[in-house]
Amino acid sequence: MIYDFPRYLAAKKTVDDRALNGYVWQVLRQNLPSQPRILEIGAGIGTMVERLAEQQFISSASYTAIDSQPENIAAAHQRLVNLPAGLDLTLEAIDLFDFMKRQRGQRPYNLLIAHAFLDLMDIPATLPQLFSLLEPGGLFTFSINFDGVTTLEPTIDPVLDAQIERLYHQTMDERMTNGHSSGDSRSGRHLFTHLRQTGAEILAAGGSDWVVFAGPKGYPGDEKYFLQFIVETIYRALANHPELDRLRFAEWIAQRQAQIETGELVYIAHQLDFVGRWPGA
Ligand SMILES: C[S@@+](CC[C@H](N)C(=O)[O-])C[C@H]1O[C@@H](n2cnc3c(N)ncnc32)[C@H](O)[C@@H]1O
Repeated sequence: MIYDFPRYLAAKKTVDDRALNGYVWQVLRQNLPSQPRILEIGAGIGTMVERLAEQQFISSASYTAIDSQPENIAAAHQRLVNLPAGLDLTLEAIDLFDFMKRQRGQRPYNLLIAHAFLDLMDIPATLPQLFSLLEPGGLFTFSINFDGVTTLEPTIDPVLDAQIERLYHQTMDERMTNGHSSGDSRSGRHLFTHLRQTGAEILAAGGSDWVVFAGPKGYPGDEKYFLQFIVETIYRALANHPELDRLRFAEWIAQRQAQIETGELVYIAHQLDFVGRWPGA
């Protein structure tokens, strides 16, 4: 399969649409500032801006969306052509930490969005820096935070399936970026404590599991590609793992890809969404 990250993010949109926690989403809508000045970090190809515009959250707002990968920002420029006229959008390819350095001392935003992003960070170290971008009383929404369960059905081999899940999550826990630990396979549940420790108020929280299966017409949208990409990601994470028999693992991956072809594969990932307020330091 061709490993195409922007296509994966585009395919993920319908999966996220179903997953986003309805209650948390409603609390976000109820608390939206009247003149939103939004910062989205790790915005990918811009599917969240699109979703918020489609659902009339933001007909009039300033919206800055950043992502470290220029190819994602390029895809966002191509994608986001029909936004409401009142939406003042700035897209920038920049690393979050460079962005925060540049912003130091300025707090221009009253809504911070991180969607399918925080679980890639060292959350306790990053949260205080993130909140320093928000004006006191500003709102944040952190959605699709992975929380320790990856389920693939039907079972191939209960022992091997469980071992692969455990080792895959371990790669998240051990991930290093620029010499710093970054990642937590249970970031969803840990966010309650991390948010409280920074002094943030949690207004709403709830589950936002990805559930992907083939209906009578097969997998919806481009979700077949989404699943192929997930299985490929598991393969890349564990391809040289010393605890796994190479041939058996390769066979397991081939079986999972075959299950996608026949529409048998069901994928569930457990995640949590949060909305809250930053009262100010
Ligand atoms: C799982 S993707 C989610 C993208 C998007 N929020 C979505 O759900 O479609 C995580 C994104 O974070 C970006 N990213 C990772 N580390 C980053 C950093 N240090 N600064 C800015 N963006 C980063 C990646 O390029 C990627 O697009």
